Amino acid sequence: MESFSFYNPTRILFGKGKIEKIGKELKKADLKKCLMIAGGGSIRKNGVYDQVCESLRENHIEWIEAWGVQPNPTVEKVREMITLAKESSVDAILAVGGGSVIDSGKATAVGVFLNDIWNAYTEKEKITRALPIFTVLTISGTGSEMNGNSVLTLSAEKKKWSISSSLLYPRVSIIDPSVQNSLSFQQTVNGAIDAISHILEYIFMNETAIATRAIDAGLIKTIVKMTNRLQEDAKDYVARANLAWSATLALNGISGVGLQGGDWACHSIEHAISAIDPKIAHGEGLGVIFPAWIEYVSEREPDRFSWWVKEVCGEDSVARALRKCRETLKRWGSATNLRELGIRESQLPEIRDLLLTYGPIGEIIRFRAEEIEALLMLAY
Ligand code: NZQ
Ligand code: ZN
Repeated sequence: MESFSFYNPTRILFGKGKIEKIGKELKKADLKKCLMIAGGGSIRKNGVYDQVCESLRENHIEWIEAWGVQPNPTVEKVREMITLAKESSVDAILAVGGGSVIDSGKATAVGVFLNDIWNAYTEKEKITRALPIFTVLTISGTGSEMNGNSVLTLSAEKKKWSISSSLLYPRVSIIDPSVQNSLSFQQTVNGAIDAISHILEYIFMNETAIATRAIDAGLIKTIVKMTNRLQEDAKDYVARANLAWSATLALNGISGVGLQGGDWACHSIEHAISAIDPKIAHGEGLGVIFPAWIEYVSEREPDRFSWWVKEVCGEDSVARALRKCRETLKRWGSATNLRELGIRESQLPEIRDLLLTYGPIGEIIRFRAEEIEALLMLAY
């Protein structure tokens, strides 16, 4: 088994009714005023916003609000939030929403101490300080509620890049799965595919992390089963709760222990796709790219995929396993090729060229221009 370091300082409060604890958590940390960051308004409709406000009020925490974070969040919007955070002298960030809101919250937390937040993503400035980050999660998938990553897009240059820092772990994250009942099935599926993809980025790296891969196989199967149950009944609490916790575990460090940091080619490729068209949800994009990547890489290294074929998919060949994956995606109503995502063939060179500006792509196979082209054609 490869050597590793494991770190995760985030405290999770999980379950029905836990949102009312958020004010107390800020108070316990001796914080007085936070910037509440939110998306397009779903938290007003499902009651999460009211629960958060009531809890802050009861615990005498002052707050100001920054709304309007969009899926595939932008640096431009985060810059506005940093200005607001500085002007109002907040001492904490409270992100209430999904990965896009949380990632914007994390960027704001470090951005108040930088000349410009994008410099952190280009590594021109080092992350040395951050405001304390608290989150109330409303859609499971990214794992951002319990990791140190943030992904933002610089719209002007279509660059969707990420940062990782131990300073970006939320202090406390609240996960009340029942508030996810208001998600459409499509959004639930986007989160599920993203969580599965996080595990897939790790499991092909080596065969010696036996314990980790056993956990990972269990997580993938659970995510698939729970998503199937939610397709039948969106209010199935047991399914929501197990999907939510599996998604958190899929990218909080646990699923990658001993797996050499993972491959991450598919994430880079998907990030270029949703940078080109921000209407494309990250999870749905991964549902197209990952099967194509497995098809492509398994032609060169078939043995690398044997464990996954048998233990995760219960099949006897990569081809059958991939057919099963694509059938599942279709049954869930998710895209299985780039055309269904709305990408035109004429956009493929743009995706390739953009990706080449992202830095090295992949570990198992280092993708150069020709390989990217071949993979995109397979996915098309
Ligand atoms: O904006 P609102 O109104 O909140 O609506 C959101 C949004 O339209 C809606 N939604 C969220 N909770 C809801 C709800 N609708 C009804 N009921 C609820 N309970 O769902 C839509 C999608 O939200 P978003 O936050 O964009 O989704 P997700 O959590 O999938 O985040 C995706 C972003 O995270 C990045 C992705 O690239 C993408 O930008 N990632 C972040 C990672 C990380 N920080 O570790 C890792 C991932 O690999 C990923 O790259
Ligand atoms: Zn992801």
